[in-house]
Amino acid sequence: MTGRFITLEGGDGAGKTTQAELLTAWLEEHGRTVVRTREPGGTDLGVRIREIVLHERGHIAPRAEALLYAADRAHHIETLVRPAIARGDVVLQDRYIDSSVAYQGVARGLGAEHVRSVSEWAADGLEPDRTILLDLDVTVGRARVAAARGDTFDRLESEAAAFHETVRRAFLDMATADPERFLVVDAAEPADVVQQAIRSAIGPLVGIDEG
Ligand code: TYD
Repeated sequence: MTGRFITLEGGDGAGKTTQAELLTAWLEEHGRTVVRTREPGGTDLGVRIREIVLHERGHIAPRAEALLYAADRAHHIETLVRPAIARGDVVLQDRYIDSSVAYQGVARGLGAEHVRSVSEWAADGLEPDRTILLDLDVTVGRARVAAARGDTFDRLESEAAAFHETVRRAFLDMATADPERFLVVDAAEPADVVQQAIRSAIGPLVGIDEG
């Protein structure tokens, strides 16, 4: 089997975890080996970096924040993702370089191109075969996170609504610029409708033909 690298992107509360679980089950039913992972925090080292970037109490300089995400990514891609793709697995990853571009590059104002090039260097140029963008109104996403977890927001989630609006816009702009790689799904639809759209797009990539 040919290894594949599929990434999921979107704001908080868009349903990435639910969709990843449903897609994993479907891929496994069709005999594919799936590695589900995430950034930040897909490795033991990454879990420690995740703790810093999401829960550090004091200020983190924006460039340091960008480099922490990049450090997590460098280690994760080299030690976990590339070996899985080389084995022929399907890697289904929650967040990747596009998140750094949207959050640090655009919303934090560090510059989309700078942040993308740092991340591409960190990942030694690994590109996703397909990126699923779960697009959702910011207020709706926030309400979903609050309902699921109570009002405990991490460092990034605690940013103002305008920050998250900027993130949303940045993701949509990236999708428009690269329609071959991105599939944009309306995450306000019921979970099974969203999942169907994802399966239709991913099926041909992983050799599953449901007719
Ligand atoms: P995520 O794991 O999706 O959060 P949760 O599991 O709490 O839903 O992502 C953690 C946060 O990190 C999220 O707010 C987005 C942010 N993030 C960046 O700012 N830059 C990045 O490069 C990545 C990967 C995530």
